[in-house]
Amino acid sequence: MRIVHSVAEFRALRPTLGHLAFVPTMGNVHAGHISLVQAAREHTDQIAASIFVNRLQFGPSEDFERYPRTLAEDAAQLAEAGVGVLFAPDENEMYPSPQSYHIEPATEQVSVLEGEFRAGHFRGVATVVMKLFQIVQPDIALFGKKDYQQLMVLRNMVSQFAMPIEVVGCETVRAQDGLALSSRNGYLSTDERRRAPQLNAELRRIRDAVRDGHRDFGGLQESAAERLDSAGWRTEYVRICRRADLQPSDAAAKEARVVLAAARLGTTRLIDNLEI
Ligand code: PAJ
Repeated sequence: MRIVHSVAEFRALRPTLGHLAFVPTMGNVHAGHISLVQAAREHTDQIAASIFVNRLQFGPSEDFERYPRTLAEDAAQLAEAGVGVLFAPDENEMYPSPQSYHIEPATEQVSVLEGEFRAGHFRGVATVVMKLFQIVQPDIALFGKKDYQQLMVLRNMVSQFAMPIEVVGCETVRAQDGLALSSRNGYLSTDERRRAPQLNAELRRIRDAVRDGHRDFGGLQESAAERLDSAGWRTEYVRICRRADLQPSDAAAKEARVVLAAARLGTTRLIDNLEI
């Protein structure tokens, strides 16, 4: 695997890469990231990944500084999984001057869920992914459903700007106990890690209830949030939404749904979701 740190070097290499799949990450690689590389291999044998901890998508009181940076281990895992080129720019390379242009996602898409609790987050995500796409020029880009709203925002960006990129969404990879893999799981204490699967358990409970015909969505959401809070979490949201646009689902409608949640355990903020 070749590791490339500059835009110029990636540009020079790009014509040799042919039909290219791309897996953007912020590093601290785990089996969730690796599953995206494996999915990419079903589309093409040329795979690029990127590692860049993007300051723009972190709020002022978020974990940018302490976000785990583990380039050597990450590179070994990505190479082993079949990545041919790893783009790992430093901040000066990606943002040589103050970032004065931004991609602003549609208000309807970012006024809910993560967008409601992390102002400016998706603006930061869309801006860096636009830039990464310009540099890498992939034919296919793979993202995890773990970050469900992010996948929706990026699909929309690609479509609105008529970018010639196929966006592929991949299933969430979980630990045996149901906890969705995340670089942020490393912040959990031993006790918190033991309790963390409750978030997924509450989502499964809601998914099963809705599948069984329960239609009091408000009640289901509230009782899940109450159970989490009384177990020591600080719940930000538990919401049953329409898959199409992530607006609140109408219990009377026949529509594809997804239940999404965000909650804090100690100082760690976890998100998860399940399609219903
Ligand atoms: P990061 O959190 O590193 O995630 C990189 C990719 O891995 C994203 O598409 C994410 O949805 C996916 N992913 C994370 N955990 C997963 C899991 N348990 N199962 C399956 N896929 C999983 O998401 C970002 O980085 C950034 O916002 C980025 C898109 C790179 C822009 O900076």
